[in-house]
Amino acid sequence: MARHFLKLSDLSAVEARRIVARASELKCQPDRSYRPFVGRSLAMIFTKNSTRTRVSFEAGMARYGGHALFLSAGNTQIGRDEPIADTARVLSRMCDAIMIRNDSQADQSELAAHSRVPVINGLSDLHHPCQLLADLQCWTEHAGDPAGKLAAWIGDGNNVCHSWIEAAALFGFTLRIATPRGFEPDAELVRTAGTAIQICATPEAAVKGADLVITDTWTSMGQEAETQRRLTAFKAYHVNEALMACAKPNALFMHCLPAHRGEEVSAAVIDGPQSIVWDEAENRLWAQMALLEFLFFPS
Ligand code: CP
Ligand code: NVA
Repeated sequence: MARHFLKLSDLSAVEARRIVARASELKCQPDRSYRPFVGRSLAMIFTKNSTRTRVSFEAGMARYGGHALFLSAGNTQIGRDEPIADTARVLSRMCDAIMIRNDSQADQSELAAHSRVPVINGLSDLHHPCQLLADLQCWTEHAGDPAGKLAAWIGDGNNVCHSWIEAAALFGFTLRIATPRGFEPDAELVRTAGTAIQICATPEAAVKGADLVITDTWTSMGQEAETQRRLTAFKAYHVNEALMACAKPNALFMHCLPAHRGEEVSAAVIDGPQSIVWDEAENRLWAQMALLEFLFFPS
């Protein structure tokens, strides 16, 4: 049975920490002769846009000797209603792993159920676990072990927020969440994470004394029709210098990107000294290669 990575909690705490630590090791190895993925192919299914996820997997596979195939819905039979189970059966006879970005966690589970090779979630409606491996690597590199620390999520209780919720439980930090009414994260995920999660009434309450402030776009891919309603609903959830001043003086700022300056974050914050978003983006490459090593070569 192949091991899949559809959500962060598919890993144990020990495994997640091992992958994050390995990602930092890979980052420090300039040695281009290390090519563990020679002869291996990664099929990448995208039904939504991507810059970081696509490029990090593709460049990483090339760097480590493997090959990545970009498969869009428009240019494959996926977009002509071939059943997802059949796609899984075929791709997993030809490739060594499958990465998928789509709008349905349920379809990803269906793909995994019929795949002989590991399936990796490159973003769904509910989770973004690859992002969190990179984020945990980044936070650790800048501030040490996240255990016992305090992070604040401001804005939409979306897919990225859900993966942060799972990360808090797995890595032992507290995540305070402030969202407008009607945009809360999944209640079951919050309940499962237990005391790691604190829901706050205002952004200021969430950020007070935090080591890290995190946000994401107010309108995720697929929600474009709601843009106007969201712009109004999220107005008070803008991360600016005044809000950052409520956090610890050395607090960091993270955002999975793409960002919208003037909406969820001000230019002064994302382009300022507390922001570590470019290291965060770079780490997508290292974290995902550490993940592939883990999936290809289980110890
Ligand atoms: N953060 C992230 O997943 O970026 P892309 O949408 O560019 O892949
Ligand atoms: N929440 C965003 C993340 C993009 C990487 C989206 O789903 O569009």
